[in-house]
Formats: sequence, C-alpha cells, structure tokens
Amino acid sequence: MRNYKAKVVEPVRLPDADERRAALEAAGYNVFGLDAEDVYVDLLTDSGTGAMSHDQWAALHRGDESYAGSRSFERFRDAVEAVMGFERVVPTHQGRGAENVLFGALLDDGDVVPNNTHFDTTRAHVANQGAEPADCPLSVGLDPDADHPFKGNMNLDRLRSVVDEAGAENVPVILLTITNNSMAGQPVSVENTRRVAAFADEIDATFVIDACRFAENAAFVGAREDEFADAEIADIAREQLSYADAVTMSGKKDALTNVGGFVACRDEGLFERCKERAILYEGFPTYGGLAGRDLEAMAVGLREAVQRRYVTDRLEGVAELGRRLVAAGVPVYQPFGGHAVYVDAGRFLPQIDDEAFPGQALVCECYLEGAVRGVELGSFAFPGTDRPELVRLALPRRTYGLEHLEHVADTVAAVYDRREAVPGMELTSEPATPELRHFSASLSPRGPLGAAD
Ligand code: F0G
Repeated sequence: MRNYKAKVVEPVRLPDADERRAALEAAGYNVFGLDAEDVYVDLLTDSGTGAMSHDQWAALHRGDESYAGSRSFERFRDAVEAVMGFERVVPTHQGRGAENVLFGALLDDGDVVPNNTHFDTTRAHVANQGAEPADCPLSVGLDPDADHPFKGNMNLDRLRSVVDEAGAENVPVILLTITNNSMAGQPVSVENTRRVAAFADEIDATFVIDACRFAENAAFVGAREDEFADAEIADIAREQLSYADAVTMSGKKDALTNVGGFVACRDEGLFERCKERAILYEGFPTYGGLAGRDLEAMAVGLREAVQRRYVTDRLEGVAELGRRLVAAGVPVYQPFGGHAVYVDAGRFLPQIDDEAFPGQALVCECYLEGAVRGVELGSFAFPGTDRPELVRLALPRRTYGLEHLEHVADTVAAVYDRREAVPGMELTSEPATPELRHFSASLSPRGPLGAAD
C-alpha cells in the first residue's frame, strides 16, 4: 500500500512524437544523451533519483558544515551503527568512492576478487588496483525463467574453484553484492551469506558486502527464507550484515538520498587505512566529500529504509510494473528484482542478433513510443560477455505513481505489438574504453524505428 503522499511536485511532460524522434536522433540513439526534460517516465536508474521524505528535508537544515568533527557526522555514524551494526565508518561522495577507498586499502597487483556478480564500477575499481574480478553467479541466475527464491546468491562451488585456481594467498577479499544488481536485482539469502562468510574465514580473506540495496534484500529474505518469516526487516538487515567484515555503500540507493556513500568496517587497522585514503580522494574522514546536510539526510534515510512500511511498498511497486508487463505478454526476467524489472530483449526481439543490440533497439523504441527511458544491460553495455540481453526499467524510490507505471506498461506493450518490425542498431562512434561505451557511444538504426505514421 502506498504509505506516503506528495508535498512537493516536479512537473513532467510527454513530448509529442516529432519531438521524441528529433531528441533521440540528436542523442545519437543513446538515451544517456537525452535531456531529462524530454523524458516522461525516467527509469534509467534508481540511483540518487528518488524522493526524500519530509524528515530528510527537515534534517538538511541541521547540517553542521564544520570541516572536522561535525555533529552531522556523529548523527550519521550513530545511524550506521544502529541500522547496519558498524561503529567505524568513513563517508564518501558515492558508492564508487567507497570502492576506491576500501579496495585501495585491501588489494594488490595480481590479487583475485570473487563476487556473486560485480557491478560495473566495482569491477572497474577492482581492476584499477591491478586485481582481477571473478564473477561466481548461480547458473539459474542466468536463466530469466528459472524459478528460485535467491537467484542472486553466490555460487559456492564456483567460488571454491576460483580460489583453488588463484591460490588462497592471492584472494585477500571476497565480495557479495546484495541485492545482485548485475543479476537482475535478485536477492541473496542469509544462509548463503553465512556460508560465504565462513569460507572467507577459512581462507583468511576479508569478507565485504556491497550493501547498496541491503534493505530491499532484507525484505526479500523476510518473504522467502523460512527462518526469517516473522522477523522485522531491520533485524534481518542487521543479521545479514553482521557476517561482513566491511561494507561499501551507495547512499543513493538504500539510504534514500540523492548523493552520498560510505565504507564501514570492524577492524581498526583497516579503518585507519581507509581514513588515510579518504583524505586523499574524498575529504577529511568526518565529511568525505559531502556537505554536513548530506550526512544528515543519509542518517534519516537509512533508518527509514528498513521500516517495513517503506520497503514492502517499494518492492510492491516494482512487482506491480512486472505483473503488468507479464499480463501484456512481454517476456521479463522472473522473479522481478528489488529495484527494477528487467525485460528480456533477446526473446522480445528474436529477429535481432546480439551484435545488432536488441536491447538498445528496445530502449530506443520505448523512448519513441512513450518517452520512457530504460537502460540496456546486454551486449551494448557489456561487450564480449554472454549474458542475457536485458533492458532494465529501474524505479526511483517513492517517485512514480500507478498512472506512471500504467504508462510504462502500455508503452512497452505497444512496442511488443509491433515487435516484428523493429530493426537492429549499429555503432557509429564509440569511446576508447569499451567497458564504458554505453554511456557515450552513438548508434544508428538499421531500418525505420518507431510506429509507422
Ligand atoms: N554497487 C552496486 C551494486 C551498484 O548498483 C552501484 C551503482 C554501485 C556499487 C556504485 O554506486 O553509483 O553511488 O557510485 N549503481 C547505479 C545503477 C549507478 O544505476 O545501478 P554509486
């Protein structure tokens, strides 16, 4: 049930068909190049795009902008301890800042870092330290139709074989991403978390949870893992995080803010190393590249994120969109993720080969049809991997209502009705770094896009 109402509103506008066509062409058929005002429902990401609560806005006014030792930092640290169980915390400007700070303190050239699945900035920051990221997903996770409550889990057999191959002495860190964004936003069970933690202990590795969506993950655990059927979401979250030696966090997700992040850890030596790196890359360790007011907003947001009334509504909104797409016959990854519905573009547009980017064609069509912006997460975003061709429709938190979801479902369904006429795409220019090409490459369609006039 929708447990909030609007107090401040932001106008949005549906551009007409000619405007949409011109905007997409000017953007080089890459929706990262669109002006936000030309988008009606923006599902590009759930990162930093949500609405803050009135308590968060009120807290901004308490921001203590002292360079060192601010009261805002104290309130932020208290919230991290109360909600996530870590006393030692270093704020950063966002999640990737936390990755840079922590990985620089833990990794060396030639190390291998297993993860259930690396998010792209995580992968890049592991590689940036000279280490090698190794994904260990469940094979059911790669099947959009397979029914399994925790398709985001770490594949423990694969984890063991990665460590055997690398030699345990070369695996100083094991990561676990909850929920697993690069695996369609699927959750990780507490049981799996315990096993990964025990294995990390066995090989003397630091066990790090990428906790960006820890509250959504806890809500899934409450709904799907018997042991936690009657537990409070806040207690589940603390229990799951209690197994980690450290966490990296993007406040732009489950701290319900527009900016911010942090590293938290238990070990004092590691904490000192992180603080040193924070001074170099982020800011003095009681502000970490943020304003005091941003720390206040994160402190309030973290406590809100684990309230059942917030997080069950959040998951229900995503599921509502998923059900509407399924009802229209659209192939989607199931079960639905915590922050997004992932459309299976490979099955949606079987006439388009992977090299002609079926997901990107679908993203362009959704924009032309209804000014809806999603993001391709297939061959265009991840060149050279054999992942499913997915398009992510990520819901910003507390932002869109049922009419918006209806508009999105109607838009995707209208494209589905004319799917046989949708052409593939080709690259016309790309940046030097192929891993980052989906942010800035240009494309052109191999035939006419959009509904026939
Ligand atoms: N880890 C995960 C699992 C993420 O999803 C993200 C960001 C980050 C780390 C990095 O955090 O953006 O604050 O630097 N994901 C966003 C997305 C960008 O659209 O999925 P950040």
